Amino acid sequence: MHTIDFRSDTVTRPTPAMRRAMADAEVGDDVYGEDPSINRLQEVAARRLGVEAALFVPTGTMANQVALRTLSRPGDVVLCGVNSHLILYESGAPWALSGVQVQTIGRDGLFDGDDVKRAVHPDEFHFAPTRIVEVENTHNRSGGRVFPLPLAKDVAAAARHAGMALHLDGARLFNAEVATGTPVSAWAELFDTISFCLSKGLGAPVGSLVCGRRELLAPMLRARKLLGGGMRQAGVLAAAGLYALEHHVERLADDHANARRLAAGLEKLGLRVDPPPETNMVLFEVEDGRAFSRALGERSLLIDPLAPGRYRAVTHLDVSEADIDETLGRIEEIVKGGVR
Ligand SMILES: Cc1ncc(COP(=O)(O)O)c(C=O)c1O
Repeated sequence: MHTIDFRSDTVTRPTPAMRRAMADAEVGDDVYGEDPSINRLQEVAARRLGVEAALFVPTGTMANQVALRTLSRPGDVVLCGVNSHLILYESGAPWALSGVQVQTIGRDGLFDGDDVKRAVHPDEFHFAPTRIVEVENTHNRSGGRVFPLPLAKDVAAAARHAGMALHLDGARLFNAEVATGTPVSAWAELFDTISFCLSKGLGAPVGSLVCGRRELLAPMLRARKLLGGGMRQAGVLAAAGLYALEHHVERLADDHANARRLAAGLEKLGLRVDPPPETNMVLFEVEDGRAFSRALGERSLLIDPLAPGRYRAVTHLDVSEADIDETLGRIEEIVKGGVR
């Protein structure tokens, strides 16, 4: 029985063609700005997002932290959606590395301009200055939910009115583009800084970009160096990213179709799927989480619970439509065996 891994879209392995592109990459010392593959990737990324500058960094976490250090001063308040990656899964980095406080607003990762207005502190010396809004699109913890463009515009207008800066954690921004048909540039133009990952649905082994206006490049370079992200002949990694941007964006639609196929099959088996998948994640529930996890393990299905009895299955490049049907067959056995 082959293992089918739904834990995350980060588990993909580079394809043979991507590996060939990596092996053939032209390289140089990127701390000197001399790696042709990285320079090309940064140009392609900036053009794709419709922004002036992009900087290659090893991880999405570093991309977010470079952006925060660039936009904030110690003591500032950063507003973001509940259960944002920034708070849950970045080791407390906003507090530790930028000395900012993070405050959540809205629900399920979404919020509007009124939520921003209500959260802004008065401009008075007792209060920490509320200076940055962070939007996560798609929102990981709420099941790959898209942050709709009209809502993002409403948030941006309220933030600008209050004199705040905006950062977009677009780790999966291309999933949002493919799911909605809204180009990434339409979201990007609302923000000062934008991060996106090559190492998730796009299938590269490593790499993210942090993007913004040209004048932000110098502070972003400084923040990247300070955080230990100045790499040398990393063009071998950038080549994978260039390959991913060229060949793996449109195919995200397959991951989304597979997520919908999985969700429909799980519902047919009587399991509750909530919310309906918008992109490449399926959140579903069972009554007996312990027994269900054991049964998944016995059938070589890797699906992690987010909470007892609540699971997240992520579709990606290394899960085919046939794997979805095979998975549903194995889960049917579990359910028919009385575990649900
Ligand atoms: C929304 C979001 N932002 C940022 C990151 C961080 O990416 P990395 O794991 O490359 O640090 C992730 C990773 O899963 C994510 O889901």
